[in-house]
Amino acid sequence: MQAICRSRVQIPPEAYFNSKGDKMNLIFLGPPGAGKGTIAQHIVNDLNIVQISTGDLLRAAVKEGSELGKKAKEFMDAGKLVTDELVINLLKERIEKDDCKNGFILDGFPRTIPQADALGESGVKIDKVINFKVEDDLVIHRITGRRTSKSTGKIYNIYPDCAPNPPEGHPEEDLLQRDDDKEEVVKKRLVQYREQTEPLIGYYQEKGLLADIDAAKQLDEIVADVKAVLE
Ligand code: AP5
Repeated sequence: MQAICRSRVQIPPEAYFNSKGDKMNLIFLGPPGAGKGTIAQHIVNDLNIVQISTGDLLRAAVKEGSELGKKAKEFMDAGKLVTDELVINLLKERIEKDDCKNGFILDGFPRTIPQADALGESGVKIDKVINFKVEDDLVIHRITGRRTSKSTGKIYNIYPDCAPNPPEGHPEEDLLQRDDDKEEVVKKRLVQYREQTEPLIGYYQEKGLLADIDAAKQLDEIVADVKAVLE
């Protein structure tokens, strides 16, 4: 598997980390619902980099009804990880795009040791890995309240203690819950996270790249903590 992935990942030199520090390639690591996607959106503009969510890429493929999307849907609906080969190839295509020139936040990739190995072997240098730490009870609460607006694609949360809430009077029928955000699937995703993704904490700790962030705090505090780590 790794050999297949390695041979297919050819990252253009422009996407490499610049050792002078004027590019920033980051990984956001953490359980589902830790806030990786939400915080990434608060950081990308400041750094002039892009957010690459493999979850979003996979959902787009599912929506298109592509062969890849059809294969991915089965795994996603079951709360399982999509196969390494599929995800690595998807990431490769995305990372080759022009808008990645200044750097990127990988949100939800890598999620397994083989994915991390493929990324490392491709020549992409990672500047920092932000590890979002949060308890299971809180992520289950956050995820089960998450809704997507059918009309705008914007992400809201219907629980008052989560953010952002939909604007007052927003029609309930416009808010859609992701199939994999139902509690029973979230619990399966958490098991997958512990078994397959959590080992990446030690993997990147050994490389001296890991920074822990308390992701149970308020959004603005977390954004400030992440920015402090990156300074
Ligand atoms: P993906 O879409 O990546 O899901 P995930 O990692 O499980 O991440 P989430 O989007 O659920 O959580 P998040 O940490 O981004 O939280 P968010 O910011 O939205 O992946 C989906 C599926 O695709 C996977 O299960 C797998 O099948 C497949 N897949 C994807 N990548 C793969 C890979 N590399 N390999 C194999 N398979 C892959 O926050 C959640 C909610 O809480 C939001 O409503 C938010 O507003 C709220 N919230 C967050 N933080 C706070 C806070 N501090 N205070 C108040 N509210 C908050």
